[in-house]
Amino acid sequence: MSKSRNSLSPNSARGIDTAKKVPLAPGRSLMDWIRNAPKRSPRRSSISEDELAQHNTEQDCWLAVRDIVYDVTAYVAYHPGGRDQIMRGAGIDATELFNEYHPWVNVENMLKTCVVGRLSMTKKFKMPLAPVLQTLSVNGGIVSTSAPLEKPFFDWMQDDNYVYLFVTINQEMLLRKEYVTIIHSNDTNEIKVYVYIKSHCFFLGFKLSGQIISVNFDIENNKNIKISLEKKEKSAWKKIGAALSDNKSFTKVQALPKLKFPTYLEEKTQLTHDSFLFTFRHAKNAILRVPIGRHVHILLPNNQSLIRPYTPVPKAVTSRSKNDGTQTTLLIKVYQDGMFTSKLSEVKIGDKILMSIPEGAFDLQKVQDAVSITLFAAGTGITPMLGIIQHCLIEQFLEIRKLRLIFFNKTENDMMLKEDLEKLAVKFPNNFKITHVLSASSSSWNGKTGRISENLVREIVPQIVVENDDLADDEKLLCACGPKPFTDLTVQILKRLNVSESCIYPFSG
Ligand SMILES: Cc1cc2nc3c(=O)[nH]c(=O)nc-3n(C[C@H](O)[C@H](O)[C@H](O)COP(=O)(O)OP(=O)(O)OC[C@H]3O[C@@H](n4cnc5c(N)ncnc54)[C@H](O)[C@@H]3O)c2cc1C
Ligand code: HEM
Repeated sequence: MSKSRNSLSPNSARGIDTAKKVPLAPGRSLMDWIRNAPKRSPRRSSISEDELAQHNTEQDCWLAVRDIVYDVTAYVAYHPGGRDQIMRGAGIDATELFNEYHPWVNVENMLKTCVVGRLSMTKKFKMPLAPVLQTLSVNGGIVSTSAPLEKPFFDWMQDDNYVYLFVTINQEMLLRKEYVTIIHSNDTNEIKVYVYIKSHCFFLGFKLSGQIISVNFDIENNKNIKISLEKKEKSAWKKIGAALSDNKSFTKVQALPKLKFPTYLEEKTQLTHDSFLFTFRHAKNAILRVPIGRHVHILLPNNQSLIRPYTPVPKAVTSRSKNDGTQTTLLIKVYQDGMFTSKLSEVKIGDKILMSIPEGAFDLQKVQDAVSITLFAAGTGITPMLGIIQHCLIEQFLEIRKLRLIFFNKTENDMMLKEDLEKLAVKFPNNFKITHVLSASSSSWNGKTGRISENLVREIVPQIVVENDDLADDEKLLCACGPKPFTDLTVQILKRLNVSESCIYPFSG
């Protein structure tokens, strides 16, 4: 939500211009609050209005915003609007007051460690669920209150020039462009639409009644996907076409039919001595982006039994990536003796390969909820991490979020996208830290050396050791990706450090 700096405060609207930011005492900046915020105490499932009302003094101040009760005693001195303002909400449901002044303030994150629990109140009209509600604990245990997945609605209409397909999402989620894949085949005149909704995918498939020139889509109000099929001829269609099998199905992503579509090598850029960015251009009327943390499979038309997964590189991390829906850029390490990559390296510009629709089960909600994210990547295991880095730093920058990348490689010459990553670390010095670890470094390397081990993890990220950590499980995410032995060992090490399994996400096939 955008905030107009010139807008009048509610008080000034009433002719009393008192509601302004106040000068705070030294040591009371936002960064100071992040450093000094109290440690989180166990959350409760239900706090009555009566109990809330008892905590209404500056020495013991609770208030509720959007159905969550916060203990703001420690925060009062850091409140940019001053003590008097925030104390107006003491002991009450302050949602209205809060929204009157600053609905854009991310209270869920800023006061994450101050949550007392959920406000129990029978309200006529419920506020929309705050993200923090999704993982409130009951009796000390974390329960997920996330709503069950709802199947989207489908409808269509047409005018002289277009047929429009509408998919309406019935789910509390941010509808991102990469959740929509559309493949139209000119040869068969079939259109296949895949809408990814968390772990599931809604599928539409038709053999179209008429010929089309182009396909496009827009997302409206974070709810409707409007797919526009441009008609070749201006005649009215009696129906969209013949439904393909599984039309309107809503299944787990893993259960999707393994569609492969043709795509063409457009560009190959060398990154290191053995890794390349391969950019593939999709056929006209094929739109594909890959959700963060997910991948596609590729295969060569003349050897369809050899198929391998790869994770696209986000454009925002390196300008050398061309991922934009019509092209997909993959970062691939070529092994001279690799069964697949040795053959892929012989593919020429303009040659055809086959690509799958997006696959994988990574749920972006894990990233959105976490305030501390640690990424262990080895070699090309960096690729799924890039999407997470892009999302946290570039798209959804939160001042309190800490992102840590520990990047394992053999030598200095194997470090992929080093400069691009360093640029981000310089841009976000308080939020993003990278540690490079080399297993066969040259004598001039003065960074970390070795392979992943319990000691190395303790040394680089001591706060991960649970005894040193003041974060709750749902505030942490630890991802591992690399060759299988690396990923397995990282998970074992984290478990030995008492990290709860629910915080660990290993990327594997
Ligand atoms: C979800 C997912 C995403 C991925 N994303 C990417 C990505 O973005 N980029 C990327 O480059 N890779 C990625 N990979 C890995 C990729 O899918 C391939 O496994 C990789 O490209 C190697 O394929 P290959 O067939 O050429 O090599 P392989 O034939 O598998 O050989 C690879 C290396 O292992 C050695 N090797 C093979 N078998 C053995 C054995 N039995 N004992 C000892 N050594 C052996 C080979 O000599 C060679 O050096 C991903 C994997 C997964 C599961
Ligand atoms: C409940 C009653 C509250 C009232 C009446 C209130 C009022 C105000 C006022 C008047 C300002 C100054 C606005 C300006 O300069 O434009 C302000 C700023 C601010 N308040 Fe509150 N506040 C309340 C609760 C909270 C809470 C619970 C938080 C916790 C996150 C919070 C966080 C902030 C922040 C971050 C700013 C600075 C906003 C900015 O710069 O955009 N406030 N508040």
